Amino acid sequence: MKVKLVIALLGLLMISSFSLDNDQWTFSSSDLLSETLIQLGDNKPLHSLEYTPDQIKMGYDLVHTGRTFGPDGKRTRYISKHYVCTSCHNTVQEDPDLSVSNPETRLQYVKSKSIPFLQGTTFKGIVNRESWYNDDYVQKYGEEVVGKAHKDLKESIQLCAIECSQGRSLKAWEVEAILAYFWTLEFNLSDLALAEDEWEMLNEKGVPDSEKLSFLKTKYLQKSPAHFFHSAKDKDEGYVSLEGNPQVGKDIYEWSCLHCHHQDGVSHYTLDNNTLSFKDLAFYINKNSHFSLYQIIPYGTYAIPGHKPYMPHYPIERMSKQQVEDLRSYIELKAYE
Ligand code: HEC
Ligand code: HEC
Repeated sequence: MKVKLVIALLGLLMISSFSLDNDQWTFSSSDLLSETLIQLGDNKPLHSLEYTPDQIKMGYDLVHTGRTFGPDGKRTRYISKHYVCTSCHNTVQEDPDLSVSNPETRLQYVKSKSIPFLQGTTFKGIVNRESWYNDDYVQKYGEEVVGKAHKDLKESIQLCAIECSQGRSLKAWEVEAILAYFWTLEFNLSDLALAEDEWEMLNEKGVPDSEKLSFLKTKYLQKSPAHFFHSAKDKDEGYVSLEGNPQVGKDIYEWSCLHCHHQDGVSHYTLDNNTLSFKDLAFYINKNSHFSLYQIIPYGTYAIPGHKPYMPHYPIERMSKQQVEDLRSYIELKAYE
């Protein structure tokens, strides 16, 4: 009797340890994306990093407030006198579908989350991208300015501190602290919103790892696309054959323009919900002026010596021509009501 019991128990133990082994092959929603990809045979990214909770905290402070206390206990100078990183970038998910960059679905999504609609791409999942400053940023600003940053996240952080923020260069420990904070914003598998049959496929032993790897990469963008666009040829007419929707225009005004142009925002040019703001913007729409929506949106403004704050332009993936018309129709409606 006793012997049989021992054998039965041993058997149970074996079964349970076997299934334990099996569990290690099961992907689950809390798995980090980078680790999953590496497990499936992907290369470790250049910007992988081992970091401490202190570094995360310092990185968080640098990104959200522009300064922190360094490893020597001393307070740093501000990275920029004019902006913090979050003037132009969100730190949470901003697209309903991570495999698509579409400013129209993004606008609805950010509004539902009460976060701004901005020129820079969110830092959520930035460590999961494989290139930065893409497409026209490389094409138009040139290999010399953007080249290194395009393929190296650390260089991108440094470039944006100096160029986008019109600030100082970061110390190596500051770049690493920001990167450490970015790693806390990486995707896990639940962010990819996989369907039930997709989970089954991932956990199916017969499917080759390489197939699972390329499948996972269809679920999010490995880069934030960026193509620049031009002013309307005829500013009276606007972007041809597009009819503006003032309802959408209101959202753009409130979730984008006012983010920087509200009373204490990063710009001296203050906008609000008074008729004067709308009249001013409306007056310039068809003028040959950087105050015209058809210029300020696709081209922005430049930092000049003696006046560093500038407005970054919107690539077409960050503001569509339709949305420019939407904004125009809202501004004209409010200016002349
Ligand atoms: C005045 C606006 C502005 C500020 C301030 C700013 N950025 Fe940017 N940043 C941009 C724009 C515009 C891009 C263009 C690429 C994109 O994000 O789509 C960019 C790109 C980046 C990228 C590459 C993103 C990608 O996927 O292409 C990184 C990394 C970055 N910024 C980090 C920072 C950090 C860190 C700070 C703060 C020290 C900062 N930025 C401050 C506007 C800004
Ligand atoms: C990320 C911050 C940011 C966002 C978002 C933003 N702007 Fe700006 N904008 C600026 C800054 C900074 C300036 C430069 C102002 C200055 O010189 O003080 C500027 C300049 C301007 C100017 C020219 C003002 C001048 O005095 O030269 C106009 C017009 C303007 N913005 C309109 C808009 C509109 C319309 C939107 C929404 C579609 C918008 N901005 C969104 C930051 C922003």
